[in-house]
Amino acid sequence: MTENPLAPAWLRKPGDANELARKVWPADLNRGADGSISLAGIRLSDLAEQFGTPLYLIDEADARSRARGFRVAFEQEFAKLGVRTTVYYAAKAFLCSDFARWMVAEGLNIDVASRGELALVLAAGIDPERIGLHGNNKSRTELERSVAAGVGTINIDNAREIELIDELARNHNRIQSVRLRVRTGVHAHTHEYLATSHDDQKFGVSISEAPALVARIRDCPNLNFRGLHSHIGSQIFGIEGFAEAISRLMALHAELLADGPVEELNLGGGFGIPYVSTDEAPRADFLAGEFARLVSGAASALGIPLPNIAIEPGRAIAGPAGITIYRAGSVKDVQLSTVSGPAARRYLSVDGGMSDNPRPALYQADYSARLANRSSGSDPVLCRIVGKHCESGDVVVMDEYLPGDVSGGDLIAVAATGAYCWSLSSNYNYLGRPAVVSVRNGVARMIIRGETESDLLGRDCGLDASPLGGGK
Ligand SMILES: Cc1ncc(COP(=O)(O)O)c(C=O)c1O
Repeated sequence: MTENPLAPAWLRKPGDANELARKVWPADLNRGADGSISLAGIRLSDLAEQFGTPLYLIDEADARSRARGFRVAFEQEFAKLGVRTTVYYAAKAFLCSDFARWMVAEGLNIDVASRGELALVLAAGIDPERIGLHGNNKSRTELERSVAAGVGTINIDNAREIELIDELARNHNRIQSVRLRVRTGVHAHTHEYLATSHDDQKFGVSISEAPALVARIRDCPNLNFRGLHSHIGSQIFGIEGFAEAISRLMALHAELLADGPVEELNLGGGFGIPYVSTDEAPRADFLAGEFARLVSGAASALGIPLPNIAIEPGRAIAGPAGITIYRAGSVKDVQLSTVSGPAARRYLSVDGGMSDNPRPALYQADYSARLANRSSGSDPVLCRIVGKHCESGDVVVMDEYLPGDVSGGDLIAVAATGAYCWSLSSNYNYLGRPAVVSVRNGVARMIIRGETESDLLGRDCGLDASPLGGGK
């Protein structure tokens, strides 16, 4: 078995390119005796037939069990220390009404970051008290709507928001609970655009600015200061960044306790997931145990009581529960020369691309893929799975071995696309966003309809198709 010299060092040529690396695929995804892949008992080829491709699929039981897993693990660990935990699902990872309701049914709250996300969860009937609002540039309208709706907590990002939220809360005759987002200066080891707590970026206030701002919040009669908030980045595998952030936040928390109550510490999200078989991501129970050890260690060193804890996982709940299926089209073998001699890369084009998953183009994100409609004994070939957009960076999966006889018409499944794919999707090249279908116990249900040509044309005011008026 010869390795392709164009393959990255971490990717080994598999003996069997049909094999599914369990850690990257949803729990209920399997390859059946006929060689085709099924999700929760339904063949992907049947789902493609019924709903078309590209298609986002979500394993409902898997998403719910990951949400429950975080809540139970953190509740149990922190209950041993006598404090409460609140788990917010970070809706930016993926949001629709059903998903929000599943999260709440599993005992989670919902973190929203915009007026649209807020409107969606309110329309889905989520109790406003369970909603937290984030954002580094919240508009007056967003804040007003949140205060008026009675959202549980608003995370203040900057000085400008303090008196504004106080004024809005007064207008609505409310006491609004708030946290202050702090930039701890910790650089999480992740892609730079995914790291949000080192000093040179836009989120939150520095540790040195925080005490004066908390004093201002405490002086506002219609604000209730609940505690600090931190989110150090996303797709983080190690515990070291969290450990440093907890140590710095607990020291600040202790300083703030000298002047009044601080009931809670929100440590954000950012927990990594495996996208490829070599990724080693932390489990929820491991994270809960480590967070409890770190927070309680810091509290006893500082001689302060433990705060209640909040966390905000997004990717780690939605990501692994989702996959995308595509129909393969053109296949091209490109001959290249490398230091170890000539080599070929196969470009396999599919019927979606950076409009349904911009992450490879945005942050060189890696993914795993499998031939889904059949298995094959053909020798595995290094493939680059690419989309149909007019960009050479339009990559769906940078490097993957697929059976050598993969051809146009085959169905390709890409793993771990449940988070930051649909939510980052676009209409680039006037492609409609694909539908999202949830699958559970052999039943498939469309939870977000795919965009049609009339959806796309309907917003163009110069066209007769637009409800806003005709062009001619
Ligand atoms: C404030 C905040 N909380 C939580 C999250 C969720 O992060 P993740 O999906 O990596 O868990 C994000 C993501 O950007 C965030 O900005």
